[in-house]
Amino acid sequence: MSTVARQIPTQDFQISRISDALGAEVVGLDLSVPLTDDAFEQLRDALQVHHLLCFRDQSNLSDEAQLAFTRRWGELEVFPEADKTKSETTVYNVANVSADGKHLGPDDNQSVYQKVNARWHTDSSYRYIPSFASIMLGVEVLPDEAKGGETEFSNMLLAYDTLSDEMKAQIEPLHMVHYYEFGRRLFSQLPPITPFEREVVPPTCHPLVRIHPDRGGRRSLFFTTNAGNEVSGMTLEEGQALHRKLASHASRAEFCYRHRWQPFDLVMWDNRVLLHRAKHYDMARYRRVFRRTTVAGAGPIVGPFTRIQQ
Ligand SMILES: [Fe+2]
Repeated sequence: MSTVARQIPTQDFQISRISDALGAEVVGLDLSVPLTDDAFEQLRDALQVHHLLCFRDQSNLSDEAQLAFTRRWGELEVFPEADKTKSETTVYNVANVSADGKHLGPDDNQSVYQKVNARWHTDSSYRYIPSFASIMLGVEVLPDEAKGGETEFSNMLLAYDTLSDEMKAQIEPLHMVHYYEFGRRLFSQLPPITPFEREVVPPTCHPLVRIHPDRGGRRSLFFTTNAGNEVSGMTLEEGQALHRKLASHASRAEFCYRHRWQPFDLVMWDNRVLLHRAKHYDMARYRRVFRRTTVAGAGPIVGPFTRIQQ
């Protein structure tokens, strides 16, 4: 009787930190090949520690392979905006280029939607259950000489930790109103939301202080500037003033990392603890195409007053 040695695929790659605030670079891993369990565990641990992983050189990654990688982390999130996606509502075309390859002007609605993303946000905060992680591939990125076009990230664990005790006490019981329609109101040329969108993503409230059960109850700040600026329980003016203060705090350089995209970077980030925003670039001059998939969140956001079932 002969025995056949079982081949255990090994995946050697390096993970190294890319900034003091957050983020790590992963080199030597081809994500078009299914991950071994061991490799996946290493990545899961690295995401928990660094909050953002940048996988270099993923030019072999098809839509299907990106979806398969995304599913490895959890349920796929389905976008409510069928007109902004490619053929499937699980693959989001973040681009100033149409699905059939035409460079769109800066005033085209698809380009204007990108401008909404220039404000600090976590993806899909307008949902009752916001997303866990976003995964974005740089299919066409800006040339080296172009100004802007980076994606900037801010670490909300650090942002919370560095708030004054007075501010921590003030925001402890507060919730922000998040609504999908807010982005449309910022740019009057955008069409109003449809009855379908209103029904799929009605306004919701999330606590400003987010508690992370997977981090021993550690807290972070949770708010966005692209899905509202109103705080429940405060007057409109007071809420907006508080919201401006939080946005200014989140922009402090020591919490931030600015990602300059190289062709076929695949960047994955943890929306539970990071904010991000797109930096301006000359949309009329440069084409830019990202392909984004999203891992759905596991449940509603836990705040200081959330009753957790034992
Ligand atoms: Fe985003």
